[in-house]
Amino acid sequence: MGYKVGIVGATGVVGQYFIQILKEKLWVDALYLAASEQSKGKTIENLEVRTIKELYKLPLDLVFFSAGKTISLQWAKRFAKKAVVIDNSSAWRLKRNVPLIVPEINCEELKPHHRLIANPNCSTIQLALVLHALKPLGLQKVVVSTYQSVSGAGMQAIEQLAMEILGWNHEKVLPTTLFLNCIPQCGAIDHEGYSEEEQKIHKETRKILRLPRLAIHATAVRVPTLVGHGESVWIRFRRQITLEEVRSLLEQQQGIRFYAEGYPTPRQLLGSKDIEVHVGRLRRDLSDERAIGLWIVADNLVKGAAGNAVQIAEYLIEQQWL
Ligand SMILES: NC(=O)c1ccc[n+]([C@@H]2O[C@H](COP(=O)([O-])OP(=O)(O)OC[C@H]3O[C@@H](n4cnc5c(N)ncnc54)[C@H](OP(=O)(O)O)[C@@H]3O)[C@@H](O)[C@H]2O)c1
Repeated sequence: MGYKVGIVGATGVVGQYFIQILKEKLWVDALYLAASEQSKGKTIENLEVRTIKELYKLPLDLVFFSAGKTISLQWAKRFAKKAVVIDNSSAWRLKRNVPLIVPEINCEELKPHHRLIANPNCSTIQLALVLHALKPLGLQKVVVSTYQSVSGAGMQAIEQLAMEILGWNHEKVLPTTLFLNCIPQCGAIDHEGYSEEEQKIHKETRKILRLPRLAIHATAVRVPTLVGHGESVWIRFRRQITLEEVRSLLEQQQGIRFYAEGYPTPRQLLGSKDIEVHVGRLRRDLSDERAIGLWIVADNLVKGAAGNAVQIAEYLIEQQWL
């Protein structure tokens, strides 16, 4: 028997990936789409787009929320009374009783009573999986700089970049022009000088790894790639390590593809629906024998969003909790 599945935010960048991934799943009995009032009546893959109120009236087993924090705050708990909700927004991620899950790291935190589950931020997921693999070496400090694709900022940001490439006037949703540029700001900047994305990386990574005092310093940068986030990461351990130890742990980690030669780039992920986290450029810090540098790339729409959420759902199905 299959499940009745809803997607809130189905017309968005992540929503479209949910549709593509879910339409191939045999456990999906019926797929229902919802978006804002302005999309009501559209069809995607021959499926009608409803409003969230209309979706709420339908019988559902599982709902993926991907319409931003405000909509999740307003609706996710209501839906969670009738279905399991996996939320892609930042609304519930740091709440104590809401599990924040990267299946390869902490799916054992899920319990049958969990009806609202949070999917972490895209940049966080790929970093957290690498740090999880290296946790046995004793993490002391992490410094990460991200190279985040435009799709990470949603459909309107993609439109902005497209219009800039064409040289047409368009409303800006990013802080400035992205074409032929890099913008060292992802989300609003707070009173301490950190962007929203940097705070998410900092706080969510600590929660997922269960390392509440891990030192993490992040700089999040938007770059004019379409799909796939890159991350340059520096990690210091509590003791002296060898590159062989690091490499061996990365190679053993489920969900990671390690590059002993060459390196991954975001371009190779375009359209691939690749769920792996790609890691390369592993090297020793020449001035610190306890530290390494490496480069991480993952698809922000797959492992960073829809793919990770669907992996969570499949874990629940395996446990027969759905
Ligand atoms: N993009 C990424 O890489 C990424 C990664 C991880 C997590 N996320 C999170 O995933 C969520 C969606 O991101 P996105 O990039 O897909 O954004 P997006 O492209 O801007 O899509 C937003 C979606 O929300 C819908 N929506 C807006 N107002 C609504 C309302 N009142 N009722 C129902 N639906 C409404 C939009 O519908 P209309 O088309 O009708 O406006 C659209 O389907 C966000 O919370 C984001 O933080 C994104």
